[in-house]
Amino acid sequence: MGALATAVRTRHEIQLRLAHARSTTDELFQVLRDDAFYERPIAERHRVIFYLGHVEAFDWNLLGQRAFGLKRFQPTFDQLFAFGIDPVGGGLPTDQPKDWPARAEVDAYNRRLRSELDWAIDKTFEQPSQGHPHILTMLDAAIEHRLMHAETLAYMFHRLPAENKKAPRAEQRWMAPQVRNRLVGIEAGPATLGLARESKEFGWDNERGMVTVDVPEFAMENHNVSNRQFLLFLQHGGYHNRALWTAADWAWREENAVEHPAFWYRDGNIWMQHGMFGDSRLQLDRPVYVSHAEASAYARWLGRKLPSEEQFHRAAYGVPGSDAQRAYPWGDGEPESRFGNFAFAHWESSPCGAHPAGASAFGVHDLVGNGWEWTRTIFAPHPGFAPMPFYPGYSANFFDGKHYVMKGGSPRTAACMLRRSFRNWFQPHYPYVYAAFRCVEE
Ligand SMILES: [Fe+2]
Repeated sequence: MGALATAVRTRHEIQLRLAHARSTTDELFQVLRDDAFYERPIAERHRVIFYLGHVEAFDWNLLGQRAFGLKRFQPTFDQLFAFGIDPVGGGLPTDQPKDWPARAEVDAYNRRLRSELDWAIDKTFEQPSQGHPHILTMLDAAIEHRLMHAETLAYMFHRLPAENKKAPRAEQRWMAPQVRNRLVGIEAGPATLGLARESKEFGWDNERGMVTVDVPEFAMENHNVSNRQFLLFLQHGGYHNRALWTAADWAWREENAVEHPAFWYRDGNIWMQHGMFGDSRLQLDRPVYVSHAEASAYARWLGRKLPSEEQFHRAAYGVPGSDAQRAYPWGDGEPESRFGNFAFAHWESSPCGAHPAGASAFGVHDLVGNGWEWTRTIFAPHPGFAPMPFYPGYSANFFDGKHYVMKGGSPRTAACMLRRSFRNWFQPHYPYVYAAFRCVEE
């Protein structure tokens, strides 16, 4: 293909992806009723109105300012909506709804910056030689940043009462046989983490640098730990057995009176769960969503561990009797809905094992989709790490020994971030993520 044809294809593809990402966040905000925009569903985070401005201001600050050098038209908003909050350490925010601009002002700011950006993007593709040398990477970063917020905002909206939301459509009913979670052997073999430094594919700075490790033989649970299994842990006193928790995890549990997963609550003698659009009895066949601290305590209760990042890779992408590695657990084909619960197809989890076509070559189910997978690996750079010049803090701010790697993806993870090298991370006491887990034995 000639250079011109490649440029036309790239332009078309980028514009389609940006339009899709914008419609994803637009549709998400449309789920909320008007009065919910000034709520703060999670105490450690900003009010919703911040994120309405933030997903746009991020694009504006990165592309409009840094890449295109456009003139600012509302600098106070550029700054107000620039940064989110990482809930490690600091105190809780105390701002009030009246401290934020009116919804109509934020909508107007968003509309104007989108149209200015679209004009500048068009122009840059017409004269690529005069554009910023990293423009394609910056566009990819902007698109993925927005899609990541489409996921973390879903966790946030999940905490709002159903009256604050408009249910878009009925959730799918799943016809899935009840599965038995058992250990399957994963033979020793290679696991390749990361993305080659010279690869033309987009990847965040923490993905760059390819490392192949030899993973010794181990055994892994072939399904996620279900609500049913986790309920047994709870009924056997898991939350009150000090021996199952690290000192820091126990202190967190005590301080916050954590007695069950954040997605559960008790109504008399009945266990219930918070859904996105209403509550229901606890669905026992679904993966349990818990913090890293709770997942680790459960694993200790069984005398098991959470997998390392390398073990996740080996079980997900390795092939028995071979050194070959796949792009996805199901093979090298692009993500499709039959392979797993991801890419915004559903608001809620599906039963464990409902996507057998997506199982890995070792027969491990739901490794990608239906909930991120906690690992016991502390988030750290691959060798030769270099921060992205236009977003130096994206990963480096979290190399503090206080965040754990999650792999895989949830029902609200965009298809592009299901790639093998993608790494997510959270601190161990943040309980609102669509994060599932399974255990290993070594
Ligand atoms: Fe952000």
